[in-house]
Amino acid sequence: MAISISLTVNGAPISASIDPGTLLVQFLRDQLRLTGTHIGCDTAQCGACTVHLNGRAIKSCNILAVQAEGADITTIEGLAQNGALHPMQAAFKHCHGLQCGFCTPGMVMCAVSLVQSQPDLTGDDVRAQLDGNLCRCTGYHNIVKAVLEGAEGMKSSGTANANANAAATAPATA
Ligand code: FES
Ligand code: FES
Repeated sequence: MAISISLTVNGAPISASIDPGTLLVQFLRDQLRLTGTHIGCDTAQCGACTVHLNGRAIKSCNILAVQAEGADITTIEGLAQNGALHPMQAAFKHCHGLQCGFCTPGMVMCAVSLVQSQPDLTGDDVRAQLDGNLCRCTGYHNIVKAVLEGAEGMKSSGTANANANAAATAPATA
């Protein structure tokens, strides 16, 4: 039996009828066609499916879509504003923090949430907090560089404190 949900995705109000067993990542990808959120494992191991729920990074393969009832969801498609990359996206590009790019949306979403909760980071902080996001290509060095550069970009653009909800809690994706 289908169930109705209402939530906000990338600033747009959405109402939909879904199977109660639909995972949030399935809803985003299959129903809303927001395919920037990837599925790497489907078992909460890799972080490729990371999105923000009320400003906090979560693995969208790990919750049902109905659990997002009333929530404010941001996916990788919602980060760029007016055609300009988010500072964290720009830093990943500048620092070559990706190769195949499969892990990148999840890495970026987790990194943004991390900086919003902890603007002043060390490389060790980044490695510890992003350990729930796996990359098979880069060896992580350039990802850490990118997150540190992205943190500086977020602070100078004022987006490091963009979400009060995120400031209250560290990312929950590890
Ligand atoms: Fe969700 Fe891997 S697909 S953690
Ligand atoms: Fe290929 Fe991370 S860039 S998995």
